[in-house]
Amino acid sequence: MPKHFLMCRPDYFTVEYAINPWMHPEAGADRDVAVRQWEGLKAAYEELGHKVSLIDPIEGLPDMVFAANGALVVDGRVYGARFAHPERGPEGPAYLRWFTERGYPAHEPLHVNEGEGDFLTLDEVILAGTGFRTDVVAHQEAQEYLGRPVITLKLVDPRFYHLDTALFPLDGRNVAYYPEAFSEGSRKVLRRLFPDAVLATAEDAEVLGLNAVSDGRNVVINAEASNLQLELKRSGYEVIPVDLSELRKAGGGPKCCTLEIRGEI
Ligand code: ARG
Repeated sequence: MPKHFLMCRPDYFTVEYAINPWMHPEAGADRDVAVRQWEGLKAAYEELGHKVSLIDPIEGLPDMVFAANGALVVDGRVYGARFAHPERGPEGPAYLRWFTERGYPAHEPLHVNEGEGDFLTLDEVILAGTGFRTDVVAHQEAQEYLGRPVITLKLVDPRFYHLDTALFPLDGRNVAYYPEAFSEGSRKVLRRLFPDAVLATAEDAEVLGLNAVSDGRNVVINAEASNLQLELKRSGYEVIPVDLSELRKAGGGPKCCTLEIRGEI
C-alpha cells in the first residue's frame, strides 16, 4: 500500500540553538550536505512507490525540516502541533495552514504536543510519548479528536526526547523499540502489547536507528544502525539504509523528516 508523506526541504537548516542533547550550535552543520541527504531520503520513498508532498520551508525556522513534528493525521483528520520550545512555535500554525488550505478538517490543539514525533499510529491504537515534549493531557485531547485509543508511554532518557527516537511501527501491529528509553512501567506495557517486538541495542539507538519508517515491508533506516538492520532482515523486512548524518546534528533522522498523511479527504 503506497503511503503519502509530507516533507520540508531543509533550505534554512542550521543548528543555532540547542533544545535537545544532540544539538551543538558551536559545531554548526552543513546545509548543502543536509539538503543532499534529505533529497536521498525523498528519492528512497519515491522509489518505493510512496507519494511525497512538500511544504514550503520558512526562513528562520531551521528545524522545520522535521515534518513529523508538524501534526498528527489520522483518518484524514488533522490534530495540530503546539511546540514545547518557542524557537519552533511558528511551525505549528504553518503546518496546520498547509492542511486547512487543502480542505482537511483540523483541530488547533490546546495542549503542548509535537505531532508524530510523539504520536505513532498502529491499526488499533496510537502510541503516545511524554516526559520531554508532549504534555500527557494532549494524549487525551488527541484521543477525543481522533476517536482512536491513545496509550501513554513515558520517556526517561533525554537523548530520546520524542517517542519516534525510541520506537517505530513495523506494521499496523508490531513495533521495534529501545527498552531503556522508557520508564519501568512503560516497558511492561510495551512487553505486554508487543511480545514479538524487535528490540534495539544501545548502539542502534545512539545513531537514531529507531527513527525509521516502515511501510510494512520496507524499512527506511539510518545507515549506521547495523545491528538493527540485521535484526530486521532476519525478521523478513527489506532494509533501505539512508545517510542523514547532517540532520542528526539537530537530533533528527528519517522519521523526523516525514509526516504521514493517513486517509485522504
Ligand atoms: N531539533 C529538533 C527538536 O529538537 C529535532 C526534531 C526531531 N524530530 C523528531 N520527530 N524526533 O525539536
